[in-house]
Amino acid sequence: MKKASVLLGFALSYFIVAAFMQLPTEADLSYPKDFRSWKHVKTTLVDKPGTANEKYNGFHHIYANDRALEGYRSGKFPDGSVVVFEVVEMQKKDNVVHEGGRKFADVMFKNAKLFANTGGWQYKEFITGNENADALKDAERTSCYHCHTSKKEEDYIFSKLR
Ligand code: HEC
Repeated sequence: MKKASVLLGFALSYFIVAAFMQLPTEADLSYPKDFRSWKHVKTTLVDKPGTANEKYNGFHHIYANDRALEGYRSGKFPDGSVVVFEVVEMQKKDNVVHEGGRKFADVMFKNAKLFANTGGWQYKEFITGNENADALKDAERTSCYHCHTSKKEEDYIFSKLR
């Protein structure tokens, strides 16, 4: 009886702590498949064929979930903010540039405590066709953080709402 209540107490305190700290679940840190219904922050078109950075050729669409939208407005992104940088193929026909398929999505997930070593953000990359796995190696993830550090004063976010 005593043991059971100790266990129950344990379980309860975990849930209370988790609720307070807003610990993300695996699902919170996985590919956010509905992001195209979020706030569209901006789009950039990169057209540099034949360069080393060919991977980034195409449309860059940035999307923010509701919490991240608060961050864009206030300059401080709350835990649970998710920002997606979607890279989409461009197809040129006559004088029109059309969107093709999505190449990949780079995603930033905010949790100040959990990701304190990288400015409070986790960086991931989801390649189209293999969205169940994060494609980044540790060194690549570190380079995401290093470049974004130049925007430390803006909470590591480059883009601005239009
Ligand atoms: C060499 C610098 C550099 C590196 C490395 C880099 N980024 Fe970025 N990132 C940028 C810039 C610049 C923008 C803004 C682009 C724009 O405004 O169109 C950006 C935008 C973003 C955004 C949208 C939010 C924002 O900051 O505007 C996300 C999400 C993102 N990057 C994730 C990543 C991930 C994940 C990686 C690693 C795989 C990565 N970035 C590596 C420079 C970099």
